[in-house]
Amino acid sequence: MDYLKRGDNWIPRLGLGTYEIKGRQGRGALEFALDCGYRHFDTAQAYQNEAEIGKVLARTSIPRERLFITTKIYPLHLGKEKFLPSLEQSLRALKQDFVDLLLIHWPSQTIALEESLDLLQEAREKQYCRLIGVSNFNLELLQRVENYKVDIACNQFEYHSFLDQSKLLEKTHSMGCFATAYSPIARGLVNDEPVLKEIAAYKRKTPAQIALRWLMQQDQLVAIPKSVQIKRIKQNFDIFTFSLSAEEMDRITRLTHQNKRLIQSEFAPTWD
Ligand SMILES: NC(=O)c1ccc[n+]([C@@H]2O[C@H](COP(=O)([O-])OP(=O)(O)OC[C@H]3O[C@@H](n4cnc5c(N)ncnc54)[C@H](OP(=O)(O)O)[C@@H]3O)[C@@H](O)[C@H]2O)c1
Repeated sequence: MDYLKRGDNWIPRLGLGTYEIKGRQGRGALEFALDCGYRHFDTAQAYQNEAEIGKVLARTSIPRERLFITTKIYPLHLGKEKFLPSLEQSLRALKQDFVDLLLIHWPSQTIALEESLDLLQEAREKQYCRLIGVSNFNLELLQRVENYKVDIACNQFEYHSFLDQSKLLEKTHSMGCFATAYSPIARGLVNDEPVLKEIAAYKRKTPAQIALRWLMQQDQLVAIPKSVQIKRIKQNFDIFTFSLSAEEMDRITRLTHQNKRLIQSEFAPTWD
């Protein structure tokens, strides 16, 4: 496993996405992921699975300092009245005193950004989280964060082999943040892409492994593929024992020019 470092925090560069990881099957997937070596788990208030993740993490013998847990505040909870109570509820569900990373899940169109940024910082001061950040912020919103002089660590956004995010990556990195790529295997679509299939056949890997390796060979980047299937959980993690050549990297980067965005939301800002 590779790590990024922010202050005293080590961030595993590959985490398990947990959207739709629920119930008995979900708990089994989480336990299997821990056994495989996953130490980074990405959840959100919106996923309604914090309690299940809490149950599994409470049972593991892996020391807390080895784990990296991210949760995200739901857009309707971003104002003064709901932010901290909803976070306290998330921590209770997760059975944690703190999360490692707390994100604004999507920007709110009704609550002032500055109010939410103050609350994020208050959460950090209260030691409810170690690092703070945002998700689904476009260039303009990131600029507002920068102008407000808030020290965020991360911007999480959709990024995979079919979507050019070079401008957003440049801005994210220029602010000293790392980027977390969500939907990093394009919800499984990578498996049907001819270039990825060709490279995968040559390397004796799966196209999803090639797509994830392409992300891991980029600076200051974390990826959080989701799977509930044992074979895929293991394969998606097994991407640190091979590498892509500069030419292979370029061929995959060219695929991003199709600009295929998969995730829609009523909260989405205008993408630049
Ligand atoms: N911040 C945000 O707004 C935001 C938005 C979207 C996602 N996220 C986070 O990012 C995580 C990952 O994104 P995602 O769940 O949208 O998409 P993803 O990780 O790109 O893809 C997950 C889908 O692909 C399938 N899959 C997993 N591994 C595979 C493999 N090796 N080959 C083929 N198919 C495979 C999974 O099915 P099986 O489970 O059946 O394997 C699932 O349907 C989420 O779980 C969530 O934590 C955040």
